[in-house]
Parts: sequence; C-alpha cells; structure tokens
Amino acid sequence: MAFFNNNLRLITIIYNQNSYFPNYPSCSFVFPTSTSTSSNSFGLLSSCYTRSRIRATSSAVATSSPPLPDSSIQKSSDQEFDLFACPVCYTTLIRKGPPGFNVPAIYRSGFQCQKCNKSYSSKEFFLDLTITSGTKDYVEFKPTRTELFRNPVVSFLYERGWRQNFNQRGFPGPDEEFKMAQEYFKPAEGGLLVDVSCGSGLFSRKFAKSGTYSAVVALDFSENMLRQCYDFIRKDDSILTANLALVRADVSRLPFSSGSVDAVHAGAALHCWPSPSNAVAEISRILRSGGVVVGSTFLSFESSSFSPQILRPFRQLMNNSYSYLTEKEIADLFNSCGFINYTCKIQQSFIIFSAQKP
Ligand SMILES: C[S@@+](CC[C@H](N)C(=O)[O-])C[C@H]1O[C@@H](n2cnc3c(N)ncnc32)[C@H](O)[C@@H]1O
Repeated sequence: MAFFNNNLRLITIIYNQNSYFPNYPSCSFVFPTSTSTSSNSFGLLSSCYTRSRIRATSSAVATSSPPLPDSSIQKSSDQEFDLFACPVCYTTLIRKGPPGFNVPAIYRSGFQCQKCNKSYSSKEFFLDLTITSGTKDYVEFKPTRTELFRNPVVSFLYERGWRQNFNQRGFPGPDEEFKMAQEYFKPAEGGLLVDVSCGSGLFSRKFAKSGTYSAVVALDFSENMLRQCYDFIRKDDSILTANLALVRADVSRLPFSSGSVDAVHAGAALHCWPSPSNAVAEISRILRSGGVVVGSTFLSFESSSFSPQILRPFRQLMNNSYSYLTEKEIADLFNSCGFINYTCKIQQSFIIFSAQKP
C-alpha cells in the first residue's frame, strides 16, 4: 500500500495480493541498466505471482481545495481497476509478478489475456502491448511519420536539439507547455494519466515527478524513443521508483479498457499519427466520463475543405508527410469523436487544445 500526498488530495494505491495467485516470495532478479535485449516470460516468474491493481480514492481527502466538479475524479473507495487491456480484444490483462506500478516491477511481471490466451511481456524495460508483439514472421511498416521516430538516431537527437527547434514555429517550450497542460488537467488530478506518443518521455517524466497523478503511463510506438525515455529516467531514482510505466503501443489500438483512464496527454503528436481519426476515437474510448485530453501539434493554415479532392494527396506530400490540420479541423475531429468543452490556445503554428468526455 502506498500513499501519495500532492497537497491537494490523498491518493491511495492499493496493490491487492489476490488469492488467485500463490503468495509472492521475494524474486532474485537483476533489473537491467544497459540496453541489452532481454525478455521475461510467465515461466520465469512462476514463483512470484501476484496481481496488482491500482485504486484511486477521494474518500481519504485532507484538503483545502474546492470540491471537484461532477465530471472530475470521484471514484468510490471500493472502485478498483486493472490497468492494461489486451490490444486484440480489450479484455483486462491478468498480471503475474511482483507488486508495484513502476518500471522495475512491471519489467519483472508477465501479462496475459485469458480470452485470447496471448501473453505480453517486457522487452528490455518497456512492456510491449502492440498487436504484433510476439509475431515471428509478420512485420508491419507504418507510414513515414511513424517510422521516422523509430530510428535510433532520430530518437537520440529528439531531446538533444530536435524538439528545441519547435520553438521557432511557436512552441513555448516544455516547461510552459507542461504548465498549460497541468492547468487543463485540473479535473483529472489524482487519476491515471496516459502520455500517448510520449517520445523520449519529456512530459511523462514531468507528470510523474509532479505527484499530481496516481499513475502515469509513458506510451509510444517507437522502441528507440522508449529506450531514450528509460535512459533519462534511470538517472533519476525519484522517477524510476515513481508510479510510471513504459509501454509500447499504437495510438490507434490503445491497451486500456473503455472508460478506464482519467487523462490523456499527446504532446506534438497528432500530426505524426497514421490516422488522427482512429487515434482520437481510441482516446475517446479509453477516457472515463469527465476525463480530459490535452494535445498539441503544428497547425496547417490551409483548410482541406478548400482543397479539391484530387489535390489532397499532394497537400499531404507538401506537408512533408505529416498530417497537419487546421484549428477548425481539429475541433471538428474531437467533436465528431464525442468530446465536449473543446478549447485551444494558438501561437504561430503551435496549438494546444483540450477537450472532455461528457
Ligand atoms: C514529435 S514526437 C512527440 C514526443 C513528445 N510527446 C513531445 O511532446 O515532444 C511524436 C511521437 O509520436 C509517436 N508516434 C508516431 N506514430 C505513433 C503511433 N501510431 N502510435 C503511438 N505513437 C506514435 C512517435 O514515435 C514519436 O515519439
């Protein structure tokens, strides 16, 4: 049982030692500190089974903050949820391994879908929850805007100069962007935050360190970005042992059950997604009622509604294969995926937007 006090409310995280699995004896296992390839399996962990759940509660609140609006987190003290779901069928995964929601504990755990009978385990230090995890012969390539960030050089350079260039297009910089996101996330404080397309974890680390959330999932499709993310967090003990998990997944197939997530962040990401509409629909599916999404991207100032159908593929090419949208298109997309209270701030090509699940 662990308690976190973020000055606003007390969050209780309870790890249930479920009788479903035998008692959990201590595991002798060395958590890797290099990027050498390794994997674990259910067999390896058969002697240290447990089932871990996270429970967020607002019942033990000692706070001077104003009462939360109806739409914000008000989980009853009995409400529990398992975190990860099978990306194939969205059934909640059974976890076997040591308790705790942090990188070492998740690394040492195995996950299984009882419906598909498919197992998921960690590659190096991130949990691979893509549909193709475990395939032997099948290889799938995504569009360039996704594949580009899987490149080790691009991933290495991302926080070492690449991202700083965004400032020239109006991005105010990570500290200011984080502040803006935290402001939008107020109704989701104390809940589970998923940082989709986290890259090297620039914002996931800030969210985890803030203590504002019961747990943070740093999620990206790029193994190399997640590698960079791990390299950054392992240098900081306070983040390594924080409630932070590294997960590989496709934003179009998010490994969470419907309505199980309180907050979704997607920094500088929408233009990189293979299908923004599939991604936004997925985000809408996983957010609970009252849950909040905050995203940022580069704006296109040309509306596709003015581009004749025949010219649209060329618009895509001219946009350097990213899907840049106009502000109107972003608002329309979120509305069509069932969001309400859409709002945004714009500075040159930079847009940060937020919307809420009704
Ligand atoms: C420009 S980076 C943004 C990183 C970080 N969020 C930030 O604010 O700096 C875009 C990220 O989107 C990720 N991405 C692209 N396609 C994706 C997909 N289909 N599913 C999940 N992430 C994807 C890339 O791997 C990359 O890390």
